[in-house]
Amino acid sequence: MMNLKDEILKELFDNLNNVKEFEDLEKVKIKFLGKKGIIKNLMEKIKQIEDIEEKKKYGELINLIKEEVEVNLEKFEKEFVKKLKEKKILEEEIDETLPGYPFNFGKRHILRQVEDEIVEIFLRMGFHISEGPEIENEYYNFEALNIPKFHPSRDMWDTFYLHNGLLLRTHTSPVQIRTMEKIKPPLRIISPGRCFRRDPFDASHSPIFHQIEGLMIDKNISLTDLMGIIDLFAKKIFGEKTETKFYISYFPFVEPGLEVAATCSLCKGKGCNVCKYTGYVEILGAGMVHPDVLKNVDIDPEIWQGFAFGLGVERVAMIKYGISDIRYFYENDIRFLNQF
Ligand code: DAH
Repeated sequence: MMNLKDEILKELFDNLNNVKEFEDLEKVKIKFLGKKGIIKNLMEKIKQIEDIEEKKKYGELINLIKEEVEVNLEKFEKEFVKKLKEKKILEEEIDETLPGYPFNFGKRHILRQVEDEIVEIFLRMGFHISEGPEIENEYYNFEALNIPKFHPSRDMWDTFYLHNGLLLRTHTSPVQIRTMEKIKPPLRIISPGRCFRRDPFDASHSPIFHQIEGLMIDKNISLTDLMGIIDLFAKKIFGEKTETKFYISYFPFVEPGLEVAATCSLCKGKGCNVCKYTGYVEILGAGMVHPDVLKNVDIDPEIWQGFAFGLGVERVAMIKYGISDIRYFYENDIRFLNQF
């Protein structure tokens, strides 16, 4: 009869040896101590024994077995829980000898940095920021700027057309009109913002790009004011030794229209592949505001004159830092962005 105890305990230990998860342990407990478990089963048998002496002996034995099973299960559970905890702690523990994770600080995008720098230069010259919508209508983007429907110059500003005659603005020049409608001269504004064109996406074009518009309206403003301010701007953004050249050009909203070139800031005018060995790079378009544009906003061109200019932020950044492909700005390659 004593063998029964050894047998059961052996079975218990065999079962416990296979316990891996907490659920396995629960199953062993139920198997031995559950309502239909091994111990319960053995107890049922007590009733069937008729001999009182034997019944007593058997009963004592079963009680002993039950006790040992319980004690062993309890002991096992305690150790098992302890081991589980230790394992968890080991898995989660911070190893202080490991090197720390690198903490990456964000920074302003290179285009934003250049834009801020340009804006700052003009703010110091007394200009104010004026902003306009990226979704425009034909009137502000074209007509009010002296670009009538079917005028061939519209080709220069092909864009994306939306519903109801709306379009994505092709330049920041419409902000000139919107500002002059609201604010009476004298005024000096700059307008940074996003622009859109139906252009290919290649090394020098992007369908989405950034411009900064400038406008100054006052009495007795002449071309020399424009030249002085642009020359000062070029020196501030590209370096004090920068020189500027002004060429006659054509934009419907100015008369005369000009294009401005500055000493190539990379080769300092010696000639390199950025300036195509000319020593100069074009930096912006400008001109004296066309009298018809002033009339469109009820400003008397006999009393007020002004100049306007528009520059590309990408272009200035490319010249300043010798960036050969406009697409780098939008690819979000951290190796590129971290250089600035
Ligand atoms: N809006 C012109 C463009 O996107 C740039 C420009 C040229 C703006 C001459 C001006 C200006 O204000 O006077 O091509």
